[in-house]
Amino acid sequence: MVFSLAKSDFCLYSLLVSAFISEVIVNRIVQKKRLSEEVFRMSFLASHIASERKAGQFIIIQLNSKFGERVPLTIADADSSSGLVTIVFQTVGETTHRLAAMGEGDSIANVLGPLGRPTHIEKFGKVCCVGGGIGVAPLHPIAKAMKDAGNEVSVIIGARSKELIIMEEEMRRITADVSVVTDDGSYGRKALVTQPLKEACESPIPPDLVVVIGPPIMMKFCAETTRPFKVPTVVSLNTIMIDGTGMCGGCRVSVGGKTKFVCVDGPEFDGHLVDFDNMMLRLGSYKTQEKEAHHQCHIQLGIPGEAK
Ligand code: FAD
Ligand code: FES
Ligand code: MG
Repeated sequence: MVFSLAKSDFCLYSLLVSAFISEVIVNRIVQKKRLSEEVFRMSFLASHIASERKAGQFIIIQLNSKFGERVPLTIADADSSSGLVTIVFQTVGETTHRLAAMGEGDSIANVLGPLGRPTHIEKFGKVCCVGGGIGVAPLHPIAKAMKDAGNEVSVIIGARSKELIIMEEEMRRITADVSVVTDDGSYGRKALVTQPLKEACESPIPPDLVVVIGPPIMMKFCAETTRPFKVPTVVSLNTIMIDGTGMCGGCRVSVGGKTKFVCVDGPEFDGHLVDFDNMMLRLGSYKTQEKEAHHQCHIQLGIPGEAK
């Protein structure tokens, strides 16, 4: 698509860009911890974001001005007094590997946020929070906010195997009702998260709300699990994002037959209305380029083993 701007439009555009740039802060990393082989927690200084953010919101980062890819990451935690913003991320490709290679004292070139609509928090009654893999990190502030709002919170954490279970202790600080499942049975119960979720829905007092964050396929099957019980189910979508402002269309999804932009209308939607199959198809759009960039990044950073 080609579009041109008249001079007056260009001035307006410049103003808009300046407004966005004023949100962009140079961010120094002050803490980095490896939570598992592939998962890192990192805190950096971004006082504006730390004081403005709400549960469920995310940021878009750009690592340096030479390497232009922008990727979204959820704000896992933030402290307005210290100005620290915390992210938890899994190394899956080029940008996340390059981020993991950065350390205390380094700065992330651009951080835009907080973005997205905050989670709708109120006293629902019983809230069941379901997290898969890295999805447990963005789920944590939501579980905490739900608890603080007076809800009875239960948590289901799932991963392929024991090494990939993260933030169990943090979740146990919020609620004693934490169930852990692994696909291979190496830790907790050998099951998929849908099993304890189904049991919760079948219990005499089912959840009033289910919140699910994880891989799209897991969110799809969790929504299918709760559908027959008519338990409202919120999912947090992880579509491809580019600008994060609703202008590029990269993050579009179909929800209840209507087109929505995850960056501005989401990231949370009614899981019973999301067209997950279309979303998963679109997520694979750049697989060839991502694989090549991941491979080159392994060579440049000297990471042992083949890029997965
Ligand atoms: P690549 O090899 O480039 O991509 C690997 C896969 O990541 C792709 O196949 C695609 O599915 C996805 N991806 C790639 N580029 C983008 C992009 N620009 N935008 C979105 N997805 C992309 N991950 C975390 O580890 N922690 C989080 O807290 C987290 N929060 C997210 C919140 C939102 C709102 C969204 C949309 C995604 C979130 N993600 C999170 C996913 C994260 O953005 C991707 O893992 C990351 O972009 C991968 O980049 P890469 O270059 O390392 O990998
Ligand atoms: Fe561009 Fe949402 S990321 S419209
Ligand atoms: Mg990438």
